[in-house]
Amino acid sequence: MAYDILLRGAKLISSDLDSVVDIGIKNGIIVEIASSINEKADVELDVQGKLVSPPFVESHIHLDSALTAGEPRWNESGTLFEGIQIWGERKQKISIDDVKKRAIATLKQQAEWGVLFVRSHADVSEQQLIALQALLEVREEVKDWITLQVVAFPQDGIYSHSGNETLLEKALEMGVDVVGGIPHYELTREDGVRSVHRIFELAQQYDRLIDIHCDEIDDDQSRFLEVVTACAIRSGMGSRVTASHTTAFGSYNNAYAFKLMGFLQQARINFIANPLINITLQGRGDNYPKRRGITRVKELWQQGLNVSFGHDCVQDPWYVLGTGNMLDVAHMGVHVCQMTGMSEINACYDMITVNGAKTLNLADNDYGVEIGKKANLIVLDVSNRYDAIRLRTAPRYVISRGNLLNRV
Ligand code: FE2
Repeated sequence: MAYDILLRGAKLISSDLDSVVDIGIKNGIIVEIASSINEKADVELDVQGKLVSPPFVESHIHLDSALTAGEPRWNESGTLFEGIQIWGERKQKISIDDVKKRAIATLKQQAEWGVLFVRSHADVSEQQLIALQALLEVREEVKDWITLQVVAFPQDGIYSHSGNETLLEKALEMGVDVVGGIPHYELTREDGVRSVHRIFELAQQYDRLIDIHCDEIDDDQSRFLEVVTACAIRSGMGSRVTASHTTAFGSYNNAYAFKLMGFLQQARINFIANPLINITLQGRGDNYPKRRGITRVKELWQQGLNVSFGHDCVQDPWYVLGTGNMLDVAHMGVHVCQMTGMSEINACYDMITVNGAKTLNLADNDYGVEIGKKANLIVLDVSNRYDAIRLRTAPRYVISRGNLLNRV
């Protein structure tokens, strides 16, 4: 049998050994991994001992606002809340075409960086649900080369405006993959708690995943993570639930954080931290000492809980930089979370690969460089995870569903 693609001399990320293998791909599937393969192939790539990794996973991005930095005005204060105001102005002028163009451009950028699985939030606080319609169309248009999950994200809150709850449910009817929320931005704590309960009800009713923007604030009294945790324990939804940001967790006192950690062990929910954005947006109200404004990534990881990293933003009102490279995210994670031990650096790499796959609840055969799985993989110009994060270079090859997307 001639293979479609044959990689020669690949160093598998799952192997601690220096030995290399050949990888045969046929009809979009990894059909053989062996120390030496004698078959012919349409495309033969000698990767010379370079690292072969499962693709990067972007577990948290807002594609609807991507590539709008400075429109209609620059975020001069740099705060989350000025960002929300600016986006409120910009979204008056969005159209389906506008959102689709920017979203696809961002996804192409990410695919070039080796990202093949993406979870994007879509703002569903706008009456026409334009961003949502656009991202649902994009999900369909890109599905042959990138997997896009869409989250119904009520940016302005579910109960802060009449009609927002209906819009959220409409988004579920329209086919979003995940239901979201923003309890710390509801008008009162009670509304925030109610919103979390409603999100769980909807997720169960429509059989969807949950990903809540949870406690994205420096307020040490913002405690919606405990509400999400309680709902996850009671519903048994555990691994189908994600708490994004949870930056207030970095400000909680240790006695409370320790108690909460015990409940998190029971709940087994996923966490997403966004180091680039968290370090930039949080701590803005502090004088000195100034907080880092990121959740307790290292401690969650040490407890064996699933943590992944996301961009959150690429060139939008909240974060004006960004290229879509997940290695930039992991690099910042190493710094901000002080994860410089070798096992910690490797863990930060896992947070943009396997842990992200777990957060997204990807199907087992979609992810991982193993025989019988779909041929989704990248070849990096380095030989280990440490150098991948240190150098942050573009992949030499990106293979999606058995197709070679790029060639550097
Ligand atoms: Fe976000």
